[in-house]
Amino acid sequence: MSVTPADLMLRRYAAQGLATEAGRIALGYFSRQESLGVTMKGAQDWLTVADGAVEDFLRARLTELFPGDTVIGEEGGGEASDAVWILDPIDGTANFAHGDRTWCISVGFLVNREPTIGIVAAPALDELYVAQRGQGVTLNGQKIAVSGVDDIGRAYVELGWSPRVPSQHYVDMIGRVYAAGGAMKRSGSGALGLCHVANARTDAYAELHINAWDIAAGVVIAREAGGWVSDFFAGDGISKGNPILCCTPALASQLSEITGIS
Ligand code: IPD
Ligand code: CA
Repeated sequence: MSVTPADLMLRRYAAQGLATEAGRIALGYFSRQESLGVTMKGAQDWLTVADGAVEDFLRARLTELFPGDTVIGEEGGGEASDAVWILDPIDGTANFAHGDRTWCISVGFLVNREPTIGIVAAPALDELYVAQRGQGVTLNGQKIAVSGVDDIGRAYVELGWSPRVPSQHYVDMIGRVYAAGGAMKRSGSGALGLCHVANARTDAYAELHINAWDIAAGVVIAREAGGWVSDFFAGDGISKGNPILCCTPALASQLSEITGIS
């Protein structure tokens, strides 16, 4: 697909507006915890009524506005194409279901498999990240940039976890980060994890397997903030997920070795 700068600008503004509106819908559920209708998709894999409602809203509006684009969502699936929206209606669902504000709505747009637009709305934190490839990134309208940290001995590293990977592999990775002198945390939202590298709240994010909807927006946000991101969309990344490493450029080679992710 060949897209003009005007096509992209239109999509960025539309996605920004829709993510903000979706944030209001999600916040409505979040503020009435008894309305969440929490169920489990599997062990430690949470689902609420809000996930479906937010995805249905975004999918319907994007399809109406851009009928030639395809949409992939965490809950409803979908087909990849050379102009594809990749949505996570609620990322950090376990936090959402427990009343923790660290969750977000993630809207990414890829052109010819290249992450091109990234919007992450975290309404309970009153934060909106907006990025477009080659056009920069903002948080609530202010430019953001990754930290200058180049020494693992000072690095604050987020390590994402899911039950899709044997827990021992995760524990081993934590051990290697501490052994190298780093410090780690886990906040429970991969999408916000990449945003937090972008605005220097952390210096790196790594996860041994993550799905495309978790990071499609965050990849653009982190790269536009000057971050280094592994080649997540190689191979079957869109349909099956991949490992991800995102960090300051100066930490990339050391963290690649520690995590085994390149
Ligand atoms: C999960 C979160 C978590 C990450 C997992 C994801 P969900 O998504 O992003 O932080 O470590 O890999 O599956 O279930 O909250 O949408
Ligand atoms: Ca997710």
